[in-house]
Amino acid sequence: MKILRIKMTVCLLGLFILFGGSTAFAASSFKFAVIADPHMSVAGQKSPENGSKMFKDSVQLLQSTIKEINQTEGIDFVVALGDLTKDAEPWNVDRFKEVMDDLTAPYYVVLGNHDISPVDTNKAARSPGVTRATMIWTFQGHGYNGPKTHWSVDPLPNIHLIGLDSTRTGDWDGRITQEGLSFLERDLASNPNKPTIVLLHHQLTAYCDSAVNGENDFDKFVTRNAGDVLKVLRKHPQVVMTMSGHRHISTRYKKDNHIALFTCPSTMTWPMRYCIFEVDGKKISYNTYDVPCSSSVLSEAKENMMNAKWWHPKGEHPMTQEGNNKFKKFMLSSGTMSGEVRFAPETKNIIADRMGTEFYGQSTSVALIK
Ligand SMILES: [Fe+2]
Ligand SMILES: [Fe+2]
Repeated sequence: MKILRIKMTVCLLGLFILFGGSTAFAASSFKFAVIADPHMSVAGQKSPENGSKMFKDSVQLLQSTIKEINQTEGIDFVVALGDLTKDAEPWNVDRFKEVMDDLTAPYYVVLGNHDISPVDTNKAARSPGVTRATMIWTFQGHGYNGPKTHWSVDPLPNIHLIGLDSTRTGDWDGRITQEGLSFLERDLASNPNKPTIVLLHHQLTAYCDSAVNGENDFDKFVTRNAGDVLKVLRKHPQVVMTMSGHRHISTRYKKDNHIALFTCPSTMTWPMRYCIFEVDGKKISYNTYDVPCSSSVLSEAKENMMNAKWWHPKGEHPMTQEGNNKFKKFMLSSGTMSGEVRFAPETKNIIADRMGTEFYGQSTSVALIK
């Protein structure tokens, strides 16, 4: 009887692998797509207009991104890194969700500074934006599970995703509250052996001089207490990477100890891009893609960005011929469209246990995965 059962298991396993069973069980890698700063904007109190943010085209840009992600083979899940809407207007929240619901893979969201109404400032009277609580309830099941603003979920068995809320009411800068830091510490401590990706809208490091010296308020791109967040993350070798939006520049990362701190491009400001990441037992690989759009939308987006004064801090990217060329290179960042980050040894040990082909996809893995 025992032998028969073993034979049946081997046979079923063979069929499972032959017919491409679930990625979670049989694959030694996983793949996910990243959408940042879609700033959804439809006609509400007034019609959306294009500037450096291409509000008028924001729906079409997100739709064509989603269409292309749906056509990409093997996407396990999708993350959206905040600034989902223009300014949390209820009609934009609804439309964003409708468009995202066309994704064939599950998706997870975090909030950006544009997704919460400044309810307790003087702007409240002018803002039609919904509150943070309304956003959280709208996106239940997309990371959020109950009223908490920070969340964690396993999108695949033993792969862990944490969503932090870095927004604060009344300003566009960001910080993680003490409650958020405690949640992060607790959650990482209770999931020690799962490769983990942390999502938050604001960046954990600066990618330009102005974000350090604060010209044009660019220091508001970086989480105010990024140091406190990193202090927690550094203690946990299972943290593979963090992902942020907010900065509206093409893909970049910086290594901090064993962690790759990524920032991802907006789908609706030039150069309008999205990313696909793949993680295997040894490394993270990523590719950045242009959002499909007409040449007229692309050239309008570029012209608008090149003419938008605020995006060109004088000290770093003055609006001179030389400064503009430097700015173009900085925004396009052709050298960082794709790349690989190899894991530090302490992280690799965890990943190998969880995803290495020596365990994953074999019958023994069932026992090994807790
Ligand atoms: Fe944004
Ligand atoms: Fe933002």
